Amino acid sequence: MRIEVRPGRVRDLPAILEIYNHYVERSPATFEVSPVHPSDRTGWVQEHTAGGRYRLWVAVEREGEGLVGWATTSPFRPRAAYATTVESSVYCRAGREGQGIGFRLYSALLASVQDEDIERVVAAITLPNPASVRLHRRFGFRRAGTLHRVGRKFDRFWDVAYYERPLRPPEPQVPAA
Ligand SMILES: CC(C)(COP(=O)(O)OP(=O)(O)OC[C@H]1O[C@@H](n2cnc3c(N)ncnc32)[C@H](O)[C@@H]1OP(=O)(O)O)[C@@H](O)C(=O)NCCC(=O)NCCS
Repeated sequence: MRIEVRPGRVRDLPAILEIYNHYVERSPATFEVSPVHPSDRTGWVQEHTAGGRYRLWVAVEREGEGLVGWATTSPFRPRAAYATTVESSVYCRAGREGQGIGFRLYSALLASVQDEDIERVVAAITLPNPASVRLHRRFGFRRAGTLHRVGRKFDRFWDVAYYERPLRPPEPQVPAA
């Protein structure tokens, strides 16, 4: 099936949240614990569709399940000096993992912000999540550290690994002859 990756639009929000709420209800990948309604995210989707540092990309399968994944850059922390750091996130529709959708979304997302005033991209990964770790490593993210037992969901505590990369990773060095 052909999958198109394009910038997200306000009207994609219900499908984005359908994908996300699966993980809200069944997975520690997000620490949100209650399903999110489109009316809760109106400001969020506007912030992510106006250009600038915060972007939203979606993967759409025209003949199949419609929206099959999405990825964002978002504010890392609210204090002003953190503005040059963004946090990236990516979610595939349940059952559509491992098909290259995350890779395509991250390729488009990171390319789209290359000219923005961003120094660092950070990703927070609840452990274990081998697919997410592999995807981030593939894009040059390196583990900065792990926070232990910082979230409680499904009656247990979870560790979160922080991954980081410069917006523009250095070119691989060619060893001197
Ligand atoms: C994490 C996620 C976004 C990755 O996207 P994806 O489309 O499944 O990943 P891709 O098919 O593009 O593969 C990316 C890399 O991960 C690897 N990978 C995919 N699934 C894997 C798995 N279950 N275990 C180990 N590696 C895996 C692929 O081999 C590939 O690595 P390579 O390029 O070195 O070969 C997706 O699995 C997902 O939505 N998971 C549930 C939600 C989630 O955890 N989101 C991330 C929150 S931090």
